[in-house]
Amino acid sequence: MNAPADAKRRAQELRDTLSGHDYRYYVLDAPEIPDAEYDRIMRELVELEKQYPDLVTPDSPTQRVGGLPVQAFAEVHHSVPMLSLANAFDDQELTDFDRRVRERLDTDGEVEYAGEPKLDGLAISLRYEGGVLICGATRGDGTTGEDVTHNIRTIQSIPLRLPGTGFPKVLEVRGEIFMSRAGFEAMNEAARKRGEKTFVNPRNAAAGSLRQVDPKLAARRPLEFIAYGVGEVQGASSPDRHSETLGQLKQWGLRVSPEAKVVKGVDGSREYYEKIAAKREQLPYEIDGVVLKVDQVAQQRILGTVSKAPRWAIAFKFPAQEEMTVLENVEFRVGRTGALTPVARLKPVFVGGVTVSNATLHNMDEIERKDVRIGDSVIVRRAGDVIPEVVSVVLSKRPKRARRIKLPKRCPVCSSDVVRIENEAVARCVGGLFCPAQLKQSILHFASRRAMHIDGLGEKLVSQLVEADLVHTPADLFALDTETLAGLERMAEQSARNLVEAIEKSKQTTLARFVYALGIREVGEATAGNLAVFFGDIEALMDADEEVLQSVPDVGPIVATNIRSFFTEPHNRAVVEKLLEAGVVWPKQNAAVSAGTRLSGKMFVLTGALAAYTRDEAADRIRARGGRVSSSVSKKTDYLVAGESAGSKLAKAEKLGIEILDETAFKHLLAR
Ligand code: IVH
Repeated sequence: MNAPADAKRRAQELRDTLSGHDYRYYVLDAPEIPDAEYDRIMRELVELEKQYPDLVTPDSPTQRVGGLPVQAFAEVHHSVPMLSLANAFDDQELTDFDRRVRERLDTDGEVEYAGEPKLDGLAISLRYEGGVLICGATRGDGTTGEDVTHNIRTIQSIPLRLPGTGFPKVLEVRGEIFMSRAGFEAMNEAARKRGEKTFVNPRNAAAGSLRQVDPKLAARRPLEFIAYGVGEVQGASSPDRHSETLGQLKQWGLRVSPEAKVVKGVDGSREYYEKIAAKREQLPYEIDGVVLKVDQVAQQRILGTVSKAPRWAIAFKFPAQEEMTVLENVEFRVGRTGALTPVARLKPVFVGGVTVSNATLHNMDEIERKDVRIGDSVIVRRAGDVIPEVVSVVLSKRPKRARRIKLPKRCPVCSSDVVRIENEAVARCVGGLFCPAQLKQSILHFASRRAMHIDGLGEKLVSQLVEADLVHTPADLFALDTETLAGLERMAEQSARNLVEAIEKSKQTTLARFVYALGIREVGEATAGNLAVFFGDIEALMDADEEVLQSVPDVGPIVATNIRSFFTEPHNRAVVEKLLEAGVVWPKQNAAVSAGTRLSGKMFVLTGALAAYTRDEAADRIRARGGRVSSSVSKKTDYLVAGESAGSKLAKAEKLGIEILDETAFKHLLAR
């Protein structure tokens, strides 16, 4: 049957689209659409050509495996073609594959499959002669690839000379070049710092690196290699099973996947898929499915190859982690510290195994860098349990009415001003606890398990408390009683009682938890712990200046400033007071080091001018820690605190051999 005109037109359209994407992908190294979208277009064309075979043209993208050789590289002929794999996207397609295999082999028994992770990188063929690496080539179109030996040589996991034993005279190793997640992050981070372009994902980064013309540049890219098969082999008998080939490769000194395993039948294959899927996030590199290969070579021969893919193998793919959808709107969410996060409202899309309708856009810098606009078709990524994010824009699909995203001038929750400090990516609402969004998040943080641990105080309840005007600061939680709580919607008497009990119980805490619960910017659990050990009580921490704060492990200038600003704010000091009044307590540190008695019995003399305190303030601090202050130096003096232009007292103390503290040493002593 001849194809009707509309089918002809559609086929041409699909071919043009695919060619355009091929060019972007293989030549420019700048793919625009996610693989899943490409696969769908390809499938539509395959279906159309199947229905109307007269539509098949020699240059149709369905007729080749993909990949134009880049001009800059010499061509390499693969004497044994580099095949591609057919895909299975669900259980049914896996079952169908297994059924076809058994039918062709004419067996009812379970077929043994060699399972391997499907590495998400690019295929490479390495030619060793006499154990020496002489050529590394990409797959190209399967028969002709590009010579990338110069870059291959820079990859540590590829031996330049086979270190193993018993290798054949000629050996072509087939495997995958890829970039570890950590290597990819580090490389992009460095590129970002230099203001250079970043890569979308590790696979594009690997492909881009391999096509570097300058091997010095490729050498700086953290590329790795894992072998999964062989091409031409001369001077060795070929084993009976694929799994044995992998064993040989290992013996000859090549890296093979430690996850490879022989399994039985469709059930074993499915189990293997589940097992690897569960391990996926722990693997240091990205995989996009598992490959199942009929293990017996004799069976592989019977099955043979069709249109450049073997009938004896299949890629059982994980659900795509990247999909394309439309950005319908952008809203700004206000976090605990007032930071405004742009959130993309998306046309719902199934990605990474779930339906996603919101994704983070991180911050305004990212929006500008990616040039995202409302109405755009965007690529959304959801990997594992990571929050879905908008990775890039499909510019060719931008509608005329696409709107730029603007940072609001006022907080969408409380209408306070929004400020963006220069050189900082984040914009913040200045409302503080006046802003209901910040208040809710602060309360949630305060009550969280690792902070004050108030059981049962979740998001819904916190919203209700804030909206009912019952809670304006974390301290207000301690004034809540059963009747008030029971008056809230959907709150039973017993739940109210339980909550009051939980709040009461949380009063017995530790200083570290308390400090963490305050939610000072950039003071996480570890820093809170260090501060608690260093200061021993909350008063000393509240009074510490930035210099002293910086002597606490892990506290740098920024965190010190954050802590100082927090406690300079009278409102925050009042909240701390109220919490203490409400009965929040923690076990005092070992009496000998606790602040109240640390300087007990020590006699101080103050002289000269201190920059940070008046003489009276300094004396108060000494007394608060159990020390005494005298106005004259004698043998009984333990410390002389010498400020600017200290005079005769300093001379006398020196003569008596009394320990002399300058202002910094004095502050350290107070804070210790
Ligand atoms: S075997 C005989 N094994 O997937 C089939 N390929 O879609 C030749 N890939 O070009 C490939 N991990 O780049 C095979 N364990 C694995 C693989 C794997 C990743 C890639 C390879 C190939 C593509 C086919």
